[in-house]
Amino acid sequence: MKIGLLGHGVVGSGVTAITDSCAVKKVRRLEVSKILVKDESELTDPRCTLNVEDILEDPDIEVVAECMGGLEPAHTFVARALGSGKHVVTSNKKMFAHYCEELFALAEENGVSIRYEASCGGGIPWMTNLARVKRLEAIESFRGIFNGTTNYILSRMAETGSEFAENLAEAQRLGYAEQDPTDDIDAHDVKYKTALTAVKAFNTLVDLDSIPTYGISNVAAEDFSWGKEHGLTLKLLGAGKAGEEAVSLYVMPVFVKSGDIFANVNANYNAVQSDSRTLGEAVYIGQGAGSLPTAHAVVQDLLDIYQGQDSENIAPKHLPVNNDSVKEQFYIRTQRPEVFAEVAAETAGNVIITKEISLSEVNRLISSAEDRSLFAAIVSR
Ligand code: HSE
Repeated sequence: MKIGLLGHGVVGSGVTAITDSCAVKKVRRLEVSKILVKDESELTDPRCTLNVEDILEDPDIEVVAECMGGLEPAHTFVARALGSGKHVVTSNKKMFAHYCEELFALAEENGVSIRYEASCGGGIPWMTNLARVKRLEAIESFRGIFNGTTNYILSRMAETGSEFAENLAEAQRLGYAEQDPTDDIDAHDVKYKTALTAVKAFNTLVDLDSIPTYGISNVAAEDFSWGKEHGLTLKLLGAGKAGEEAVSLYVMPVFVKSGDIFANVNANYNAVQSDSRTLGEAVYIGQGAGSLPTAHAVVQDLLDIYQGQDSENIAPKHLPVNNDSVKEQFYIRTQRPEVFAEVAAETAGNVIITKEISLSEVNRLISSAEDRSLFAAIVSR
């Protein structure tokens, strides 16, 4: 099966590293025949080309693996590949979270598959397992550490007391961070993965801007000190709960209890958990970022296509996001503590621990505080 690979960066080079060297007979049949690269400095392999038409117009290429990242031109190339009857595998959560509805429809119209295992949770077989659970029962809720960069930063800060910036630089050096790392630290990357998980788990599509999204760019050593005093560890989570009229979805740092399984998931590891009636809570842990783990998921999708497994080309239903039912205590560090006075259970200087209130209410208060340095987190009970 001939494959056209779009992108030869962190993930794309991992794909060729696996397919070119794997001794397994079926994997040897996955032939990456052409590779689209960005510029001449990347023309390191005879298969490389600077012209996408060499791939999209090649009738022998059955599958396009998109590992470019970013919205455009990735979206246009993927849409064209599907439109010309090629299967697609993508690791690009940003592009797929924005365009999955259009791309599922194109895949359906053209009788081909689009698979996106590598887009969420790196190498963890998360989408595959959600699909398996759904064969028996509805998925009721999920939560996850979906970002390797921020988990690396948070766990290094917790372990060593080191500063945010030096750990971000190391995460970039290790190939975990996005080209624009604000996608990681402001948690847009987790928002895309949370939205895609809702697509797979709940068959539900939401407006990405309606997912409350809080990142870690304002996290400070004092937040870790507060957590330690209270037996809590800070993790950035994406979470969701199914509903008929609306879904609950949010992305926020959470102080988890030290006994929580997520508290011990460190470095670039991700942990993702689904909850359903008979399986109950199922947790999957693995490397969520990095070249080979993410490429592993791409190659697994390619093998599934080679073996003739259809993807679910879901036509998701549109639902609003409503977080009224998420009732928690929140940790708010802010220059405007007075804004939170009415909901405060405890106040110590510029740190407020709220009473149990809804996430919808805390969102409204945070917006009205207009404090760009504010740091907010859920406090697990
Ligand atoms: N920047 C992403 C992360 C890469 O750190 O998790 C994997 O999606």
